[in-house]
Amino acid sequence: MKHWYEHAIIYQIYPKSFQDSNNDGIGDINGIIQRIPYLKSLGINTIWLNPIFVSPQVDNGYDVADYFAIDPRMGTMKDMAALIEACHHAGIHVIMDFVLNHTSDQNKWFQKAIEDPNSKYHDYYIFAGEKNQRPNNWGSFFGGSVWEPNPNGAGEFYFHLFDKHMPDLNWKNSQVRKEMLKIAEFWLEKGVDGLRLDAFIHIAKADLRQNYPIANYLNKVDKTVIAEPFFANLPQVQEWLRPFCEQIKKDYPEALLLGEAASANVNLAADYTMKENHLLDNVVTFRYFEDDQSKIDLSLPPEYQPKNLNWSAFKQNQIIWQQTLAEVSLPILYWSNHDMPRLATKEAKTEVQARSLAILMYLQRGIPLIYYGEEIGMKNLLFTKSSEFNDKKVEDFVKEAKKQGKTTEETLNMVSVSHKMPARGVMQWTNSQNNGFSNVKPWIKGIKQNNVNVQVEETEPDSMLNFYRKLLALKKEKLFQSGNIYVLPTDSNSYVYRRDLDNISAIVAVSLSNNKEKIEIPHGYKNVMLSAGKYHINNDQLILMPYSGIVLSR
Ligand code: GLC
Ligand code: CA
Repeated sequence: MKHWYEHAIIYQIYPKSFQDSNNDGIGDINGIIQRIPYLKSLGINTIWLNPIFVSPQVDNGYDVADYFAIDPRMGTMKDMAALIEACHHAGIHVIMDFVLNHTSDQNKWFQKAIEDPNSKYHDYYIFAGEKNQRPNNWGSFFGGSVWEPNPNGAGEFYFHLFDKHMPDLNWKNSQVRKEMLKIAEFWLEKGVDGLRLDAFIHIAKADLRQNYPIANYLNKVDKTVIAEPFFANLPQVQEWLRPFCEQIKKDYPEALLLGEAASANVNLAADYTMKENHLLDNVVTFRYFEDDQSKIDLSLPPEYQPKNLNWSAFKQNQIIWQQTLAEVSLPILYWSNHDMPRLATKEAKTEVQARSLAILMYLQRGIPLIYYGEEIGMKNLLFTKSSEFNDKKVEDFVKEAKKQGKTTEETLNMVSVSHKMPARGVMQWTNSQNNGFSNVKPWIKGIKQNNVNVQVEETEPDSMLNFYRKLLALKKEKLFQSGNIYVLPTDSNSYVYRRDLDNISAIVAVSLSNNKEKIEIPHGYKNVMLSAGKYHINNDQLILMPYSGIVLSR
């Protein structure tokens, strides 16, 4: 392996929630600098920061008003330079989030585009429709139509896949492609080690006149529908991204290009990451995780009901992704991020299970990506007001649930464990009132659901934090970096795999069940490298107590 990033162990920092250095309740760059010793002690070697550019924060920074400047709430350009330098000094690489599918409506390009339909910036965005008729029935990920009237009139609409304050860029326009490359290289020139390409799979759109066919299809545009096939993973995505990636790799051969490919299936992921295609190094897929829909309350909309993971689908998906990408690229191994509920809230029923799921995921072939706070067992916050979700769809859900006789409290309990916002709580450094995050109340409200914190876990040799340290140390061993992997044929109550490199090997066995699991393992694996929960080894039989996990070598 010849690039640094093939050995990356990434830690995702949500800057607003990590550490507040100037006590305004908002995490910032200087706060991250203060915590570099902690990051180093964890054993990670890369951090990925969610967006920190100038932004009205409609979508917490994913709405960028100025790509060339740091949001003053996060710090200054000087702070950013200091962060990069201090991280590099500590052997930590820095990856920035790069939002390339859309901008903020406050971006000066968009301001010019709506002011003057004849300006060149008008074609930086996607305008269509006339006489106040929306061009099609496509729905936005954030609810409602993808079309919003040009606020300056003219009867036309602009396209936004996300919030209406986040207009999509027109990647068909070669000028836009040039501008985006310029921005990317501006940051790489400043010493950033890579970019996470946000929502890149959406940069190409199908013919805008085409309504999405729905049941009871009336060719009317009053009902909207999320028209994924018309704006996700179209072939032009690769066509337009290729010159962008090629130029970056030419100018910065060590830059990591990590794409967020939420809905990409494994074959697309292979296309996006195979060397011959000159696109990305790795992608993050959301396809690992499928919900168990069997316990859904049919009287309520499904989206915000708490759901368990469908474990047998999960196991199948892991095996397929591991094997399909085996000769292609390194899969990104993760349990959660700022767009999903936390591991300790959703998948892990117990602390033991949180640990063994970490073993399961991160010792596979690929690059671990750990969401801040996961290493201490943080859970989603509990929100007590629907407005705290900052999501119109939640308000609708609460109304709907009320009609079905649910109290607001019951409904908010449900949404708090299933929604992305409560997963963005401030890092629990200590058990003090503001968690050692700030001296004042943090920007994000909500009640923490456990008292886990770094301060206490530092003092306990067997804490989750120290467990993660051991796990990441193990991950750095050659076997787990470069060994091949295959999954042993066990039933869906366990996930057992073997990693081999030359003549060294290890068995990783994790119980997914609440019962005692008996697992036949190959002969001679007796040496325990790491474990979570209780187990027994009798000859070649391994017994795992509920949700336990173990790593064995010969
Ligand atoms: C990505 C981000 C998400 C954001 C969206 C729009 O999916 O992860 O948080 O809302 O893109 O930029
Ligand atoms: Ca601050």
